[in-house]
Amino acid sequence: MATSGVYLHPLAAEELRLFEQRFPGHRGKKAVDAGCGTGDFTRYLYASGMDVTGIDWSPSSITLARQATPCPLPYVIHDLSLGDPPGLIARSVDLVVCRQTVSLLDDPDAFLYRVRTNWLRAGGQLYLSEVRATDHEARTLRGGMTEQHLARLGDGWAHATRYDLTSQRVACVILRSPAS
Ligand SMILES: C[S@@+](CC[C@H](N)C(=O)[O-])C[C@H]1O[C@@H](n2cnc3c(N)ncnc32)[C@H](O)[C@@H]1O
Repeated sequence: MATSGVYLHPLAAEELRLFEQRFPGHRGKKAVDAGCGTGDFTRYLYASGMDVTGIDWSPSSITLARQATPCPLPYVIHDLSLGDPPGLIARSVDLVVCRQTVSLLDDPDAFLYRVRTNWLRAGGQLYLSEVRATDHEARTLRGGMTEQHLARLGDGWAHATRYDLTSQRVACVILRSPAS
């Protein structure tokens, strides 16, 4: 998909507006784009002034991300289902972005737990966007989250906020890690 340029759920202007409203002034903050694909959003975070690392398990996507980046950004090839990425400094990240990737992982809840306990600093935030899937779609397709799954994403987090886009069948969820 990456090499053919096919992308199923392109970033909507509505989602970008929401992100900009919710995360103003993140200049200099440390961010990770988990499941960064070809790095479109990673480059956006970088252009916003963040110190960002992109992570994806697809070597071809990471190659394209590296080629597209005007100045060298750190990209890591890593399977997010296999634990924390190499080089991660525990509890150092201000913002983890994970667009349309959590639902593709073998154990989404284990990944969310690791982000909360190992990646984010106290009070750090995780931004997720996921296609809102019906029960049937969740059983038969890969990707997308059911209402039941979306409803319990906030378990264990200090604060959870959800926004449903009107232009796409996508839910955006912001989770804040406990303050200490
Ligand atoms: C739908 S794409 C989203 C790409 C990107 N987040 C964006 O918004 O443009 C899902 C991405 O998750 C990556 N991915 C899926 N499973 C993964 C895993 N276990 N570890 C790391 N990346 C994974 C895929 O390679 C793909 O780049």
